[in-house]
Amino acid sequence: MSDAEDLVHDNLVSLQSHVLSEEARHPNAQGDLSWIISAISLAGKTIANKVRRARLDDVLGAHGTENVQGEEQLRMDVIANEIIMRCLGDRASIAVLASEEDEEPTILRRSGEGGKYCVLFDPLDGSSNLDSAVGVGTIFSVTRNDPDEPDGERTVCRPGTEQVAAGYILYGSSTIMCLTTGNGVDMFVLDQAIGSFLRVRTSYRMPDAGAIYSVNEANASSFPEGYQRYLENAHASGYSSRYIGSMVADVHRTLIRGGVFLYPPTGKNPTGKLRLLYEANPMAMLIEQAGGLAYSGAGRTLEIHPERLHQRIPVVLGSKAEVERVRSFL
Ligand code: AHG
Ligand code: MN
Ligand code: MN
Repeated sequence: MSDAEDLVHDNLVSLQSHVLSEEARHPNAQGDLSWIISAISLAGKTIANKVRRARLDDVLGAHGTENVQGEEQLRMDVIANEIIMRCLGDRASIAVLASEEDEEPTILRRSGEGGKYCVLFDPLDGSSNLDSAVGVGTIFSVTRNDPDEPDGERTVCRPGTEQVAAGYILYGSSTIMCLTTGNGVDMFVLDQAIGSFLRVRTSYRMPDAGAIYSVNEANASSFPEGYQRYLENAHASGYSSRYIGSMVADVHRTLIRGGVFLYPPTGKNPTGKLRLLYEANPMAMLIEQAGGLAYSGAGRTLEIHPERLHQRIPVVLGSKAEVERVRSFL
């Protein structure tokens, strides 16, 4: 390898410098998206610190309220939500914020006051795992604002193909940000000593196959028949089963090791449990950008036209060969 390539290979690139060099690739970019990603990075570092101290600061457990989905809110759900709102709220380029934890979107600026983008997020995914110190995460999706649409919910109900950026931050054995702005997937690890996300992968391609399936088999008896036949085949084909119960952790492992992650329709959640706009769509964009596939029922997840902010859908996503294998049984 020539000296120059060696140098490039050993470069230390922070998320900040990565985002600025990406921005420089788009001559008419004004840096609005860069500002949003840097605000998400600040929120991620702040939440990472709070997650790791949650038991010490005695902020585990229930908040005593329910969110719009009728799910018990945990204190950390509310804390993470507030951290994100405080980090994103002051960014002039954001028109609308939409959170899993809030019934309605928050309109920050309407067309006249700027506000090019909308940010949708699951502030703390897998939060029911916090008390057992299992990996949890933050999921985010960035779409363009429609200045002519006065209704916040209708503004953010856009198909996943219109996302301009998507990603997650996994608070696991290390704090990892996985990000796409439509030109492939880049990965960053938080170096807590310097408080910076350092780039560890660029243009990441996930394995095309992997004999791992990830599903909550406790619900299997109520899955539609095709999913049950797929599981029988996976059992007979010597597949491994890996299920963490935090979507961010299960999807990250699928990106790294290959395989397929499924949340089918169940008796309790006949249209699936995962939310289209701030769980399935951002993950589907990442998986497709890394060379994988993401389907909800018969169609591509990203092509679904959302009707409601908190709409749920079934999810099958992962390595190309594995998703196609599942689909062959549906
Ligand atoms: P959230 O904590 O944001 O409500 O999300 C939990 C989701 C997702 O993280 C995970 O894949 C799924 O719930 C697990 O559901 P089951 O416990 O029903 O398997
Ligand atoms: Mn979630
Ligand atoms: Mn959540």
